[in-house]
Amino acid sequence: MAAIDWDSLGFDAYRTRTLILSHYVNGEWSPIKVTEDFFFTLDPFAQMNHYAISCFEGLKAFRQKDGRVAIFRPDQNAARLQRTADYLGMPCPDKEMFFKMCEECIRNNMEFLPPYGHKASMYLRPLLIGVHPQMQLVPYPEAIFAVMCAPVGSYYGEHLKSFAGVVPGNYDRAAPKGSGSYKIGANYACTFKPYKIAHEQGYTELLYLNSATREYVDEFGSSNFFGIKGNKYVTPLSDSVLPSITNKTLQEVAADFGMEVEKRPIPVDELDEFEEAGACGTAVVITPMSHIDMKPVLEEDKVDRTFRFMPDGVVGPVCTKLYNRITGIQFGELEDTHGWCHYVEGL
Ligand SMILES: Cc1ncc(COP(=O)(O)O)c(C=O)c1O
Repeated sequence: MAAIDWDSLGFDAYRTRTLILSHYVNGEWSPIKVTEDFFFTLDPFAQMNHYAISCFEGLKAFRQKDGRVAIFRPDQNAARLQRTADYLGMPCPDKEMFFKMCEECIRNNMEFLPPYGHKASMYLRPLLIGVHPQMQLVPYPEAIFAVMCAPVGSYYGEHLKSFAGVVPGNYDRAAPKGSGSYKIGANYACTFKPYKIAHEQGYTELLYLNSATREYVDEFGSSNFFGIKGNKYVTPLSDSVLPSITNKTLQEVAADFGMEVEKRPIPVDELDEFEEAGACGTAVVITPMSHIDMKPVLEEDKVDRTFRFMPDGVVGPVCTKLYNRITGIQFGELEDTHGWCHYVEGL
């Protein structure tokens, strides 16, 4: 295996050594399998092939300063997977099995766990797919649960750098009372085309509005939105956004800094009032936005409004402070006063 350049890792699929698997059939999960075979054999009629019965999680493991290996808040991911699986009517591994398979994935792919000091981590991707062959639109208790991993660095190519976002006026992500708050594959399928167009136009992120009225900010295609106004950390309250574990963490960090935390609907017009704004999530950590354009039709040049936060290339002081605190805890450089790190024994 060629040596990995830990400092230039991006964020993408990666072929590590092993995959961890279990199959739920006849009312129980099969014994956990550690395999070097990365291919599933699926019936062409499998639920997930036609009906997108597929959901996942994303969490990170860190080699910390003192040598220990910590997974960041896996209890939250286990609970969120359960909530998503319930929504799709799928069987779901319990917390103990979720933890065990994530830990097995790390143990069996240690050569891909970035050493401390490179701002890199191991991303764990638990995947739950419905594999029963059927045409009927009803749940069936059969699924594969797999955990794979990838060494990752920065999602957008550089840590803590600001980027431009766009509100794609003619695309929505989630319907009112729909699936927006669940981590299902289908919520991402509808973002591929607008992302492609936005990237071609030089935007890094898509900021979706609430689809019912388009009056409020929902979230980015890959992450939650937050804005900073004076001493306030403001983030949308919406039934259509994924309950981000990073956002939840940042709200606690902001409160620790003595900031006021407001979780409430954010009218689009209020974007003008934020001094800083950014995307937050496991993958993107904190990614500040320089500005966000609103385009009525994404494919066309016309921009309705531009909301400016920090000048291009400048990262605001609050984003910097939040980023340093959360990554400091993840890498074991700062005290984990909230008990967010789950240590993997024996590594
Ligand atoms: C649509 C969406 N929103 C928000 C997030 C952030 O959630 P978390 O902080 O739990 O990773 C993610 C990604 O993980 C996401 O895909």
